[in-house]
Amino acid sequence: DERAEPVGIDARAPAELANISFLRQKETRGLGHAVWCARSFVGDDPFAVLLGDDVMRAETPVIGQLIEAATRYRASAVGVQEVSPEAIAKYSSVKVSPLGGRVYDVTDMVEKPRPEEVFSLYAILGRYVLTPAIFDILRDQKPGYGGEVQLTDGLKTLCRKERMVAVDF
Ligand code: G1P
Repeated sequence: DERAEPVGIDARAPAELANISFLRQKETRGLGHAVWCARSFVGDDPFAVLLGDDVMRAETPVIGQLIEAATRYRASAVGVQEVSPEAIAKYSSVKVSPLGGRVYDVTDMVEKPRPEEVFSLYAILGRYVLTPAIFDILRDQKPGYGGEVQLTDGLKTLCRKERMVAVDF
């Protein structure tokens, strides 16, 4: 048979990279609730959150940049980029002060800010390295914007209890 080899990736290859487990969030109660659902899987270790609808292309993977900053500053880390004043309302706005290079200290944040609530044009974009202290906060987190439990609301509390940095990736 002279047919060409199929092109593309071997769909089995990713299964060799890691052990993959699934948890279902059975109700749409928000990102904060989704992270809360993973608490027993995560246990007592720092962990990464990657939102699948934010696709990044970077020479050094964004989550690797966050792990480096989180390790260096013994902190949680969020990935941010500057967005336009028109776009910030679609994201979360972070209050930052310069720390060194592309890394900033985070002291406050707001989900889907109204114009008067905007801290900066730095928006969190789908990548987080968090300490398990977030679970104690999410346990009691009330629904926020859109009636959903917002991870951002939990992070706002976390950044007041523990160090948090933002990496402009
Ligand atoms: C989520 C987060 C928001 C973040 C955005 C982009 O919002 O809640 O803080 O800025 O992702 O990563 P969503 O896109 O689900 O409305």
